[in-house]
Amino acid sequence: MNKNFYITTPIYYPSAKPHMGHAYSSIIADFFARIKRIQGYKVFFLTGTDEHGQKIQRSAEKKGVDPKSFCDDISKTFRDLSNVLNLTNDDFIRTTEKRHAKSVENLWKILEKKDEIYLSKYSGWYSVSDEAFYTEDEIEDVNNQKISKISGSQVEWIEEESYFFRLSKWQKPLLKFYSDNPKFILPESRKNEVISFVKGGLKDLSVSRKSFSWGIKVPSNKDHVIYVWLDALTNYLSALNYPNTNDDLYKNFWPANLHLIGKDILRFHAVYWPAFLLAADIPTPKRVYGHGWILSGEEKMSKSKGNILDPLEIIENYGLDPLRYYLIKEVSFGNDGNISKEKLINCINSDLANNFGNFCQRVISFTEKNLDSKIPKNFLFNDDDLKILNTYNLKCDDLINETDKQNLNFYVNFIQDQLFTANKYFNDQEPWKKKSDPARLSSIIYVSLELIRKISILLYPIIPDSSLKVLKVFNILESQIDFNSIKVHEILNVDSSINKISILFKKIEKND
Ligand code: MSP
Repeated sequence: MNKNFYITTPIYYPSAKPHMGHAYSSIIADFFARIKRIQGYKVFFLTGTDEHGQKIQRSAEKKGVDPKSFCDDISKTFRDLSNVLNLTNDDFIRTTEKRHAKSVENLWKILEKKDEIYLSKYSGWYSVSDEAFYTEDEIEDVNNQKISKISGSQVEWIEEESYFFRLSKWQKPLLKFYSDNPKFILPESRKNEVISFVKGGLKDLSVSRKSFSWGIKVPSNKDHVIYVWLDALTNYLSALNYPNTNDDLYKNFWPANLHLIGKDILRFHAVYWPAFLLAADIPTPKRVYGHGWILSGEEKMSKSKGNILDPLEIIENYGLDPLRYYLIKEVSFGNDGNISKEKLINCINSDLANNFGNFCQRVISFTEKNLDSKIPKNFLFNDDDLKILNTYNLKCDDLINETDKQNLNFYVNFIQDQLFTANKYFNDQEPWKKKSDPARLSSIIYVSLELIRKISILLYPIIPDSSLKVLKVFNILESQIDFNSIKVHEILNVDSSINKISILFKKIEKND
């Protein structure tokens, strides 16, 4: 079995500093990178910034700086955010890097050589904010302004010489590709949208611009810059040292297993990207998952609406793990969600501080006080013990299969149930009344410590720092975490001492 896994976030436009929507894409991708790693996969996790095109050029002009220094500054805020979010990305790519230009130029040359690209003239609507072309049907008039019905952003009319990619030719092969690879686009509802879009007919795609200069030049005609989406999508190859297809990174990790993106950029990833790759005879990625949006109130966040939620502010006030937990648990994956202070506080107080933190504290301090901090030996599991422990054994494969389908909700619900069950077990078994029955007491505490270990492993991809703090109690280091070990329940080192634990999550007063 191929135990390599390549996961990517979208590369972000450094036109303004990062917001919660960007943090969301990145945190979810980090979840999948971490879970695959602890399942024994070699993971390559890529993120970065998408720095060319008219959107960036105009933003830089507004600030009166040259586009490269403009990008240097803002790209750094995205890179810094990756650290703040505790992302385990293996690389951070910038499309202004040489390695990327080399890769894009190469792809362009292949497409040109294969006669997939031709020179003509484009006239039509363009949204600089989306860096996207829209047809007449996709445009409407709002307050005397031409707006894209799809994104709501303003469009402008352009007419210029342009290279075209023969997208129309790929309509049928794409439909066949979707039907041969039914899990290429997830969730299912989004897949249907894409298929009906493609069935509706594909026009050739304008893939170069002449009226501005901020981009990678067409190798055979320096008057043109390559369309920013053809440029940007290729980042997924550039980071693996494409065009050197003999490079280990490329050999091990291409085709990508999962492009995690927001639903607004599905068309580019699920239509254009596989079409470019099919045309260039490069293997296509295995999956594109289009997640929902983090809304601010009822609307998508955007700079122009002035309703940006700043991840740094929330992290400063509530901590990183609570934010990660909230985004993964509280936003039903695949759908839109929003952030409310009340729901966030509730997550911290109820799930994290009470159900998880307090459970760990209670069991650990009971062990300190009554068992001299030793992991008990001489335990003998009864039916209650085995039932609760075996749940993990029985569900482990489901958890793996469901997360392989990006069914995050299944994973999160399982943890919720297990936290509830673990607390109930400890309360029902009343170890404090079993001091005269050392064998039973040993078993209850052993089981409870095992539950802490298993749940902490499950929580590791969601709240890595807190999980590691707990696993340290058993001297388990990050590199030793093995997802499959949740199946086993005689794994703790009997008779060895457990370490102390500090408070994991502080409860928050509602009006703090
Ligand atoms: N540069 C392109 C992506 C190129 S990928 C080859 C782009 N950049 S972006 O900065 O505008 O958006 C990056 C990602 O952030 C997209 O997946 C987008 O869906 C996501 N989000 C932006 N705002 C969002 C929310 N409010 N909520 C959730 N994610 C959203 O598109």
